[in-house]
Amino acid sequence: MERYAIKGGKVLEGEITIAGAKNAALGILAAAVMTDEECIIENVPYVSDTRTLLKAIEGIGAKVKYLDRHTVSICGKGIRGDRSLSVDDEYIRKIRASYYLIGALLGKYSYANVALPGGCDIGARPIDLHTKGFEKLGAKVDTVHGGKVVAEADQLVGAHIYLDTVSVGATINIMLAATLAEGKTTIENAAKEPHIVDVANFLNTMGANIKGAGTDVIRVRGVTKLHGAEYSIIPDQIEAGTFMAMAVATRGNILIQNVIPKHLEAISSKLIEMGATVIEYDDSVRVMADGKLKSTQIKTLPYPGFPTDMQAHMATVLALAEGTSIVTESIFENRFRYVQELVRMGAKIRVEGNVAIINGVQKFLGANLTAPDLRAGAALVIAALAAEGVSVIEDIEYIKRGYEDFDEKIRSLGGNMEILDTDKDIQKFKLRVG
Ligand code: EPZ
Repeated sequence: MERYAIKGGKVLEGEITIAGAKNAALGILAAAVMTDEECIIENVPYVSDTRTLLKAIEGIGAKVKYLDRHTVSICGKGIRGDRSLSVDDEYIRKIRASYYLIGALLGKYSYANVALPGGCDIGARPIDLHTKGFEKLGAKVDTVHGGKVVAEADQLVGAHIYLDTVSVGATINIMLAATLAEGKTTIENAAKEPHIVDVANFLNTMGANIKGAGTDVIRVRGVTKLHGAEYSIIPDQIEAGTFMAMAVATRGNILIQNVIPKHLEAISSKLIEMGATVIEYDDSVRVMADGKLKSTQIKTLPYPGFPTDMQAHMATVLALAEGTSIVTESIFENRFRYVQELVRMGAKIRVEGNVAIINGVQKFLGANLTAPDLRAGAALVIAALAAEGVSVIEDIEYIKRGYEDFDEKIRSLGGNMEILDTDKDIQKFKLRVG
């Protein structure tokens, strides 16, 4: 089983380039099947979640071709849009974004039959808002059919939909289906994340008529048909934030290229409060820190608030800051599972409900760790890079879902990190790094 072996204590310096946004890519790749013409998508991150979704898209008859490592051609013409259409390969249940195929296929064929989504275990993660939205558009949705979601309609008809919780997934999914519905749809209390805007921009490039993405009211005027398009995905806000936190935790100096600094404001402002320096350029940011870090308070909120996907990374940095910090998780109820791992490295963190109370320590000590989910796994990598001694992190397949070439990028910054398979290799690594 592959594991990361990390010898911490190095100051990370240099520059890295951020990949395309995973969570935008997942919506966009699903949207691409909504036309029978070819779509060419650039800047697709080469991570296991996108590859899994592409396999599922291929599995229903679409033509999928990698033109290069980050450019994918998708042609949805070969999909048999009848009642035999079913998305249920052995992989698709593992990823959350399989649910975007419900909206995309329901919009295009008025029928979708998709295995229930999996994804990281960070809380209950219901999809009731998605299904209520489809029902408002006139679909009948059955969610118990052998662990599948079956949605069908004679004709989707635009509607007024109010989301009682701000949901990224439901906003994108309803937008997908509404694109090919008859008439106007309004999504109120919509999520405003950068990837919502990116999916809407892609759909508009395909001929959709969507206005207001990025605000909390999205208006979709249904069109009868979409056409092929070429599109380049925005940079990944969370991958960028991860390297920003890494720079601070290791008291390093990293130039992070291919970012949209505006998308990083919530992260930058917290790092600055902690005593780091963040310099914004047009499409890059430099993050530096030295000396002592200060404590602060963080509460996760929907965009433009502080992203839940960066909660674990920031708590890790705060665990090395002077004083007491409070981190409140308000989106998912099970996103503190990394805390017990950090505690084994010497962190002083107490979790009470959805609040982590962090008393900063001077240093972490290397330990054997297990990644509980994608983002928490990346946070443990940061902890290990900042720690004294060697750490070994198991279950790194979670991390590979969302971080392209994570170990290579970290090595290019001077980090001492390898992917190793056997106990013998780990022993050798430990002897080598001393
Ligand atoms: C997306 O998940 C992302 N996943 C998550 O990223 C991210 O953490 C999350 O948005 C919040 O930003 C993808 O884009 C594939 P939500 P999603 O619907 O869409 C509740 C990562 O690490 N809710 O915005 O599943 C829900 O329980 C992943 O990259 C309902 O109650 O999140 C949560 O409390 C992890 N009913 C809140 O809404 C629903 O039908 C927000 O969830 C849907 C959601």
